[in-house]
Amino acid sequence: MRHERQLELLDRVAAAGPRLQGLHAEASMMNPASAYTDADRFEREQRELFGTGVLFMALSCELPNPGDFVSGAFNGVEVLVIRQDDGSLRSMVNGCRHRGAPVVEPGSSGNRAGGISCPYHAWTYELDGALRARPGSAGAFDDVTVDCGLHARAVAEKYGLVFIRPDSIEPIDVDAYLTGAEDDLGSFGLADYVQLDSRVNTWNMNWKLVLDTFSESYHIRTLHKTTLAPTFNSDTVIFEPFGRNLFSVGLRKDVVDELAKPRDEWSLLPYATIQYFLVPNGLVVHQVDHVEVWRGEPLTGDTWRPATSLYSPPQPVPQPRQPPDVRPPEKLGWSRIILDA
Ligand code: FES
Repeated sequence: MRHERQLELLDRVAAAGPRLQGLHAEASMMNPASAYTDADRFEREQRELFGTGVLFMALSCELPNPGDFVSGAFNGVEVLVIRQDDGSLRSMVNGCRHRGAPVVEPGSSGNRAGGISCPYHAWTYELDGALRARPGSAGAFDDVTVDCGLHARAVAEKYGLVFIRPDSIEPIDVDAYLTGAEDDLGSFGLADYVQLDSRVNTWNMNWKLVLDTFSESYHIRTLHKTTLAPTFNSDTVIFEPFGRNLFSVGLRKDVVDELAKPRDEWSLLPYATIQYFLVPNGLVVHQVDHVEVWRGEPLTGDTWRPATSLYSPPQPVPQPRQPPDVRPPEKLGWSRIILDA
């Protein structure tokens, strides 16, 4: 996050006073329980948000090399995104054109630089999804001349983020989707992060209830009484919408100490949990020294399957050791002597 943006947010914290009052939204909002329980509404969400809508798929750093792929399921559609030889991405349905078997393990990642081979009868596809070969088709079914390439889907990549439409080829305008958050997200340099760990869970919660919980710190003093509560503010978050998405900043209690410094020395990042909700299925969280990414799939109206991944910033490349300086120590400055020791 750029320093100017951090200062802008900290100005708001400073204006809220030592108890951080006044950082809430301007008015409360009532949400009917049916928004979480209505079956018809859930079906419509699945169709319009998780089917033809724009979904967050991956960080670019998960697919650095030609042939690298990630796959996932969205409203029953298995989708595959794969890096091409020219560095671009293609997205396609993870379903063989022969009998529909997944061409890669659903929910997996890996590399298919040599081409994509279906495990069922070994039909083989190029990285762009074009059919390369159908073993044993000569004299059998080579009279089938229709295009048997994998069905394409829309994909777009920008600011180190990858987006898809699981059930559409309608182009994706990432800037229009991010609606002003692109500078923030771009400044983190997510394309160069390194994935550390990933896990999948299934939780018995409506998908919106999960995101609601992430967007408030109100529960911290009770649910996280002995862990987060001693150091984390439970009363407030900074909140901004961007398009249909949400930006929020949770704060450590000692953020007020930072404000005692000269303004141009302020830094928000050591005190903040910075969250970008990429509605409907993504959450990118910057936490001091790492980034946490959540991708969620609603299985039913009250079941949600999140995949959680952790990433670290790129590590410095070790430099080769320099030959020792043979000058007498008295000609070296103190700092140089200490560094060489
Ligand atoms: S289903 Fe893929 S080759 Fe038959």
